[in-house]
Amino acid sequence: MAKGVFEIDPELEKGTSEFRQAGASFNQMVEAVNMMISRQQRLLSDISHELRSPLTRLRMAQALANRKLGDSPDLARIDTEAQRLEQMIGKLLELSSVQVDSHLNREAQPLSSLCDALLEDSQFEAEQMGKILTVTDVPERLMTCHPELLMSALENIIRNAIHYGKHQIQVSLQAKGDVLLLQVEDDGDGVPEDELDSIFRPFYRVSTARDRHSGGAGLGLAIAENAIRQHQGSIRAARSALGGLLVEVTLPLLSEP
Ligand SMILES: Nc1ncnc2c1ncn2[C@@H]1O[C@H](COP(=O)(O)OP(=O)(O)OP(=O)(O)O)[C@@H](O)[C@H]1O
Ligand SMILES: [Mg+2]
Repeated sequence: MAKGVFEIDPELEKGTSEFRQAGASFNQMVEAVNMMISRQQRLLSDISHELRSPLTRLRMAQALANRKLGDSPDLARIDTEAQRLEQMIGKLLELSSVQVDSHLNREAQPLSSLCDALLEDSQFEAEQMGKILTVTDVPERLMTCHPELLMSALENIIRNAIHYGKHQIQVSLQAKGDVLLLQVEDDGDGVPEDELDSIFRPFYRVSTARDRHSGGAGLGLAIAENAIRQHQGSIRAARSALGGLLVEVTLPLLSEP
């Protein structure tokens, strides 16, 4: 359970009566914790979903007002803010949909079948933006994870690098013992030293003018951090030798037989 695997173990309810009782209580606790997590995840998902309809009506009303009254800076402001809200809710919805029951669905998979599609898509996306993304070979190891949740975390990190990098993005995956070390670096402007820890906070955007206008929700890295923590991994940001940001992720691998 400490590793995030919330499964009931029938073995616990065997043996002498004291062990059986303790085992049964433990299994009940597992079930209760499971239910609590699922309920909370569902609540988040329902709320994000419900927030959408009034927002859609707000934007329709704004468009109508615009037509009646003509363009005005106030109406334009309402539209930008509504757009921003819509984006944040979209992200929250995305996060909550992958999170629902994520603690119940863990599977062991080869790294290559987990990452290959994501890496290929990223390379394609970088190319479209006239940037070069290089990837090292994917180690031939197994990992126990919730594939969708973990891949959405990595996607957020790589997408940032593609977005904020100027020409070059490097993704490297290395197995060190039973730990996977993933590094994503770019040659963009990076993040000021004193903000390196803050970028993992929900809705946090770096305080330069560039970022205030670039229009992200500021949720990508918070989502990534959350998912990686759920997989008993770690994430940190530092300055990259390329000049931009380095995001370093470690995740536990299955031991080699
Ligand atoms: N590779 C990077 N280079 C420079 N700054 C970055 C990089 N990655 C993240 N940041 C900074 O950290 C902030 C938070 O990133 P995060 O991915 O959480 O949000 P976002 O990209 O703004 O929006 P979104 O929710 O769409 O991902 C960004 O707004 C940006 O200021
Ligand atoms: Mg982002």
